[in-house]
Amino acid sequence: MRSLIDILELSTEELDSLLATADDIIANPQKYAHKCDGKKLATLFFEPSTRTRLSFEAAMYELGGNVLGFSEAQSSSAAKGESVADTAKTVSCYADIIAMRHPKEGAPLVASMNASIPVINAGDGGHNHPTQTLADLLTIHREKGHFDNLTVGLCGDLKFGRTVHSLISALRRYNNVKFVFISPNELKIPSYVKESLKKEGIKYTETTDLEAVMPELDILYMTRVQRERFFNEEDYLRLKDSYILTPEKLTNAKADLSILHPLPRVNEISVAIDNDPRACYFKQVLYGKFMRMALILMLLEVE
Ligand code: NCD
Repeated sequence: MRSLIDILELSTEELDSLLATADDIIANPQKYAHKCDGKKLATLFFEPSTRTRLSFEAAMYELGGNVLGFSEAQSSSAAKGESVADTAKTVSCYADIIAMRHPKEGAPLVASMNASIPVINAGDGGHNHPTQTLADLLTIHREKGHFDNLTVGLCGDLKFGRTVHSLISALRRYNNVKFVFISPNELKIPSYVKESLKKEGIKYTETTDLEAVMPELDILYMTRVQRERFFNEEDYLRLKDSYILTPEKLTNAKADLSILHPLPRVNEISVAIDNDPRACYFKQVLYGKFMRMALILMLLEVE
C-alpha cells in the first residue's frame, strides 16, 4: 500500500505514466467511468479549499466511486481535540483512500503512518502540495510537449507557497531546466531549496523585477501572497500587491509563454489576461481533476 505525501515519492517514469493515463482519460472518459465502482474517497480538509477538494471529489465520481468527508476542522472531532493519528485510524474503517489538507506541515505524513489505506497530501501548511504539482505538470506537458530545456519563472510568495516548493522538486529532475525566482525580498524562496539546487548544479536566478526577466521565460507561474501564514497583517498588506500581471507587462514576453497559477487568484493576474491564449490557469484546474483520477487509480492499484 502506498501513499503520496511528497512529489519526489514518484519517479519520473511514474510521472510519465500518470501523464499518459490522464491523457487517455481525457481522450476516452467512458473507459474509466466504472473503474472505482464501490470504492470510497474520504476528503479530510482542515483548511479552506475550493479546487483541490472539489476536484478530488469530481475525480472519484467520474471513476464511478463515492465520496465522504468534511471541509472544515470545526465540523470534525479535531475540534474536540482528536489527534490526526486517531482520525486516520477511524477513517480507515470507512473509506478506501484519503485526501487530507492540514495547516500543520507533516500532518498528512502522520496520517499515512497511522492509516491502513493510502493517504494523499492535499496541502500541508507552507510545505508541499504534490497533487497541485500533478496539475501543473500536465498543463506544462500539454502546452509544451516536454519538460527539458524550459526556463520557469516562479513569482510571488515563494517563501510560504507550498505549490512552488513541490513544483520545483518535480521539475528539477528534468534536463537543463532553469528557474527564475521573482519575489519581494521578504518572501524569497527558502535557502534549503537554493542549497539543494546549488548542490546539483541546477541553474537559478533571483530577482525582484518581473518585467526585467519576462523575455526569458517559457513558463510564468504566478502565486498568491499566503495571508494565512503571516504573523502580522501589516506585513501582508504591504506585500500583497507586490506583483500584478497586466497585459502591458506581457509586452516583452515570448509569444508562446504559458501563464500558470494554482489559484485562488486574489489580485496577481488582471482579468484582462484571462482571454490571452497564453493564460493556462483555468485549463490547469481541469487538468488537475484528470491527474487526480490517474493518481487514485494508481494508489488503489486499479488496472
Ligand atoms: C493552493 C494551495 O492551497 O496551496 N491552492 C490550490 O490548492 N490550488 C494555492 C494557494 O492557496 O494560494
